[in-house]
Order: sequence, then structure tokens, then C-alpha cells
Amino acid sequence: MPERAIGVFDSGVGGLTVLRELRRQIPAEDLVYLGDTARVPYGTKSAPTVCRYAGEAARFLIDQQVKLIVVACNTASAVALEQLAENFQVPIVGVIVPGARRALEVSHSGRIGVIGTEGTVRSRAYERAILNGNPNVSVFAAACPLFVPLAEEGWADHEVARMAAHEYVRPLLEHDIDTLVLGCTHYPLLKRTLQNIVGDSVVLIDSAEETAKTVAALLQQEGLRRQVSSTAEPRYFVTDIPDRFKQVGGAFLGDSLDNVATISLD
Ligand code: DGL
Repeated sequence: MPERAIGVFDSGVGGLTVLRELRRQIPAEDLVYLGDTARVPYGTKSAPTVCRYAGEAARFLIDQQVKLIVVACNTASAVALEQLAENFQVPIVGVIVPGARRALEVSHSGRIGVIGTEGTVRSRAYERAILNGNPNVSVFAAACPLFVPLAEEGWADHEVARMAAHEYVRPLLEHDIDTLVLGCTHYPLLKRTLQNIVGDSVVLIDSAEETAKTVAALLQQEGLRRQVSSTAEPRYFVTDIPDRFKQVGGAFLGDSLDNVATISLD
């Protein structure tokens, strides 16, 4: 079992920010990535639809014989994690609880902001996870739908991104937050822009980083760490032609993308 790969899935390229952190924190592990590019975005879709997509993605990874599944997509983690954990035997790690836990660790004032897709914010999954850890804090959430296309367009540091960030985040700042959870795969690319808007007194929480830490700890705890370091490059699967995935994904991964195969989940 420990020699098997870790499976990671997302609606598209965004989860490569999580894969990047996994590669950085646990370089010995073998990784398989699935981007459901034919059906992206998940963030604007209903919970039942995202649950169905997530189930199909997880089934595909199970068929690849993975030892653990990382649901890199915040929207899928927000609405489908429990159902996945019920239906599959391998450990399933989402991005919500690691980000929520870290937010509670760093917040002094107990006033925490969360930004994500419409689906993630509507689900209130971050709010539940944060309040579960400490019912005495206050959580303020905002959906930032323009950030996904801006990040994919390579405009994360563009004036347009700055203006959008200002509009989205201002209401949260009015609540005096001291911590802001980046609750979407794409938002780590906007870190610089966001930090400029919120100022140095607000700590940004990168869910990708926290999730990779959780995966590393879980592998250790379950005796699932690879004994022999993998020399294999990650294998990538997408559900639509791979051209855009390769082109846009490089910026998310911080590396070039080879080994991309097209598959169908139907
Ligand atoms: N991966 C999604 C998330 O983290 C963002 C893109 C989408 O809406 O599918 O919520």
C-alpha cells in the first residue's frame, strides 16, 4: 500500500496549487492528478451536481489504485467530502478543515474572513469547520467569482485584479478581520494583490499549504509513507483536450506539464 500513488482531483487546473505543495512537502510520493476540465467550473454549479462529479472523479482515481485521495477543489471539498468518505475505503483529505484549523491558530481577534467560489460560500463549509474548532469566533465570507478567470488569464497582478479584490474584500475589512482564508484553488496566485489590499495586519491562509501538511501527517500516522522515493513525474489526466490545461497549468504548478492524457468519466 505505501508504494501506491496519492490521487489528487480538481475541477481543472486550480488544484495544481495543491499538487505543487504536495511535491514540495512530500517529494518522495508518487502523484496522480485529475482535472475535470470538460465540466469546469464547479464553483457555479449546484451541490448535487458537484457531488456527482466528485464521485466520478474519485472512482477514476480509485481505479488508478491510489492509496489516498486529496480533494483539491474547495467547492468539491465543501459539498462532497462526507459522501466521498462514506463511499470509498481509502483516506480522503479535503482542503476546508486544514485551512479552517490554521485560521484558528493564527487569528488573535477571532474575526476571520473567508473568500471562495459561490458554491463554497453558499455551503458555509468553512464557517462550520471554523466554528466547530472554536464556537466563540466570528466568520465573515464573500464569494469572489471573478478571481478564477483572472488567475487563469494570467492577470493575478493586473490592475483589474486589484480593483476586483478591492470590491470583494472591502466588506470583510469593515468587519475588522485579522485573518483571511483563501478558500479556492486559484487564490494563492492572487496572494500579492490580496495582501496589498488587506494590508500587513491581516494574515492570509493558503489552504493548499495547510492541506499538504495534513496529508504528510496522515501518511505518517497511517503508515502510508513511501519507503522508497519515487522518481516518477506526476501523471496528469484531464477530461477535455489538454492544450489549455498544459498552457495555463504551468503558472499554477510553477513547472512545465508533461504526461497529460485525456480520459472520460462517463
Ligand atoms: N477549483 C475550484 C475551487 O477551489 C475553483 C474553480 C471552479 O469553480 O471549478 O473551488
